[in-house]
Amino acid sequence: MTRAIVLAAGKGTRMKSTQPKVLHEICGRPMLWHVLEALRAAGIDEILVVTSRELEPYLPAFGVQTVVQDPQHGTGHAVQVALAVLEPRDATLVVANGDLPLVDQVLFEDVQAAVDADAGTALGLVTAKMPLPSTFGRIVRRGATVERIVEFRDATAAERAIDEMNAGIYAFDERALRNVIGRLSNDNAQHEYYLTDTIDLLVADSRRVVPVLAPDYRLVLGVNDRVELAIARAAMNERLCHAHMRNGVTIVDPATTYLEPDVTIGADAIIAPNTSIGGGTTIGARARIGPNARLMNAHIAADVAICDSVVTDTSVAAHATIGPFAHLRGGNAVGEDVHIGNFVELKNARLAAGVKAGHLAYLGDATVGENTNIGAGTITCNYDGVRKNPTTIGRDAFIGSNSSLVAPLTIGDGALTGAGAVVIRDVPAGDRVVGNPSRSITSEKAAST
Ligand code: UD1
Ligand code: CA
Repeated sequence: MTRAIVLAAGKGTRMKSTQPKVLHEICGRPMLWHVLEALRAAGIDEILVVTSRELEPYLPAFGVQTVVQDPQHGTGHAVQVALAVLEPRDATLVVANGDLPLVDQVLFEDVQAAVDADAGTALGLVTAKMPLPSTFGRIVRRGATVERIVEFRDATAAERAIDEMNAGIYAFDERALRNVIGRLSNDNAQHEYYLTDTIDLLVADSRRVVPVLAPDYRLVLGVNDRVELAIARAAMNERLCHAHMRNGVTIVDPATTYLEPDVTIGADAIIAPNTSIGGGTTIGARARIGPNARLMNAHIAADVAICDSVVTDTSVAAHATIGPFAHLRGGNAVGEDVHIGNFVELKNARLAAGVKAGHLAYLGDATVGENTNIGAGTITCNYDGVRKNPTTIGRDAFIGSNSSLVAPLTIGDGALTGAGAVVIRDVPAGDRVVGNPSRSITSEKAAST
């Protein structure tokens, strides 16, 4: 089984951040998450992350083994620290920089295949042709093999003109790596132990170092500062959008559609501009989402339409329409054919099929039965200063405009509240109440006829 070492202890000074570099997010996931995801997709599950004291506390969430490198004397030193805690094996060992979030599964597979191809090869490493200028390490070739890598800061003008770069992704014959790793020196511009200097040593031992040219240099863009962070985010987002579009989703403007990795979207759905979708959201076929929508952990059924709205931790059943300007937050279940209109907020609300809340309402901790109409300005007064209290409204009820429903409260099937009613007592099925505090007019009506 191939193991991997991921290098993530570097200070990342160019980010100018109090947060460790590899925790900065790209499409809603830390940079390091993307690297680990690509490794796992390539079948590499045994991963050791070389970390700093600052980063270490965040790593349990990533499900990897860790070792702290402190102080940090360079990538070669990081690998020395890692090898000291790994049980030696006669196998392939992948080493990858933790700041290459766009790397994919195929690169990890190809680089392993290169070292596994023949016994004389001690190292396969990913290279990329890049536009100059660039501060990546330069690949100095001898024919089809690599002779050495020269770091940008140590390179001569002639070497800086080389446009083949070291990506920072390696597959070593572990035994060969262990033979040379103790012999690195820090006699260079940065006074660091460079992992890239293992190549000179391997070549001197008559072992081959084979380059694996990446099909597109954008797969190995490193992130060293926030400009590169934004460039990498755009590239990752484009990749996610393209995958959905190839699956039959219309994304009107990928540049202003912001996706996270674990999103599912059904065929013929249309995503309009300026829309963010993440947190494991699922969207059904033919749904129309956006413009100006934000969906996080939302479960949207087929044929739903949502525009100019925020939907979090909520499920929405088929054919419902949401927005513009609605806020559905936390624990809502919205039924089929429901209509939620402008300036309506839902929190922990369960709306049965056909409910309408078209304008200016707050429904919190509420259950509403089928086909009930919630008038403009209706508020469930769910908080008494101490507790959140429930409101239950039956089916086919009519809640008049500007009703205040003081919870805990139950309003029966077919009941009606008049405009401006302040309802403080339960309303039986079929009853009509008006006023502040509200009183029944059903009996008055009966008496006067
Ligand atoms: C490194 C390569 C360079 C390559 C580039 C690709 C070396 C010497 N140079 O340069 O050839 O073109 O990556 O992006 O390897 N790290 C540690 N401990 C340390 C230092 C670094 O864990 O002591 C980690 C960093 O967190 C980072 C990775 O190693 O994830 C690479 O380090 P960085 O300083 O970014 O190297 P580059 O200068 O980019
Ligand atoms: Ca780097």
